[in-house]
Amino acid sequence: MIYLDNAATSWPKPPQVARAMAGVLNQPFGNPGRGGHSASLRSGRTVDACRETLAEYLGAAPERIIFTLNCTDALNMAIRGSLRRGDHVLVTHDAHNAVMRPLAGLEQRGEITLSVLRAGPDGIIPPEAIDEAVQPATSLCVLTHASNVTGTLQDARALTAAAHRFGLPVLLDAAQTAGIEDLRGIGADMIAMPGHKGLLGPMGTGVLCLGEHVELRPLREGGTGSASESVHQPEMLPDRLESGTLQLPVLAGLLQGVRFARANGSAIREYENYLINLLRKRLAALPGVTVYGSADAPHVGVLSFNLPGMECAEAADRLDALGFCLRGGLHCAPCMHRWLGTQGTVRASVGPYSTEAEINALADAVAKILKERES
Ligand SMILES: Cc1ncc(COP(=O)(O)O)c(C=O)c1O
Repeated sequence: MIYLDNAATSWPKPPQVARAMAGVLNQPFGNPGRGGHSASLRSGRTVDACRETLAEYLGAAPERIIFTLNCTDALNMAIRGSLRRGDHVLVTHDAHNAVMRPLAGLEQRGEITLSVLRAGPDGIIPPEAIDEAVQPATSLCVLTHASNVTGTLQDARALTAAAHRFGLPVLLDAAQTAGIEDLRGIGADMIAMPGHKGLLGPMGTGVLCLGEHVELRPLREGGTGSASESVHQPEMLPDRLESGTLQLPVLAGLLQGVRFARANGSAIREYENYLINLLRKRLAALPGVTVYGSADAPHVGVLSFNLPGMECAEAADRLDALGFCLRGGLHCAPCMHRWLGTQGTVRASVGPYSTEAEINALADAVAKILKERES
């Protein structure tokens, strides 16, 4: 099997991820923050190590690293925990439904209004698009760092600076860039990310990284193991936003994934770019194959394509039968497909363990499918 669906979740993970998870499950690890006994304290130390490693990696204070279930959970926490009735929000054409559905739900209930930022023909949003779209009621700008359909990477630093000139807080969806691109210097006020893609942790992990002055209303309230004398949700972070038992086994795995991503970040970025450029070149050379997204625009290791006269679902199924795990469809980004003018695409996305041989095998398989159709 050749796995090229790392944009959905990365695989394989560094071997130490599974080892750490098994270690937690096979030894007495108690509920973190829920007891003074040694098994609970040991779990607490694992949680702290994961939080501190992420904090260092992202350049944030440890208490401003909030653990979530996935990137969607982190985005919901940021969007629904910050917006108020009457707010206007700026969003991008390439936003995933993890961003669009919470926003569209609020819009449908008449609570907020939305504007989509203008992108150039290459899919890049110029900072001036923010100047054009800002209104007096604008209170949040939600940016997608890289498209999960084309891999096109936005200049998040320039866009954040443009939003900040209007005093607008920025929420960055770093689903396709965390663990790969440097998120430290961007200056975003909130960064939502999955732990299970580029950070190489297991599914069931996500992170919301909050800037210094950001305050959110919690969407979930309950036990935090702290301030138990009060029936009210504590004010202090991260407890305010982390109610209920934390997902310790997956956090133990995430810690190992983050350490790996941190140690190898720029090499991973270069390698994934090399592989995806090779795939783009090979696919573009096949007759009738459309590859989406500008080759010249900065991008991450994600690419979409279509075969002539074949539905993307059929193409993905035929590739699956040949042993390739790729995703066909809308990739939860309907606005991006409206922008591209497509009904769906086949998506290939690489990870640090993908190989050149796998990329060539995929291009050969696509060529084979095209040939079979001709005969
Ligand atoms: C750009 C983008 N945002 C958000 C998400 C949601 O991430 P998760 O599956 O961790 O909820 C994805 C998932 O593919 C994504 O690509």
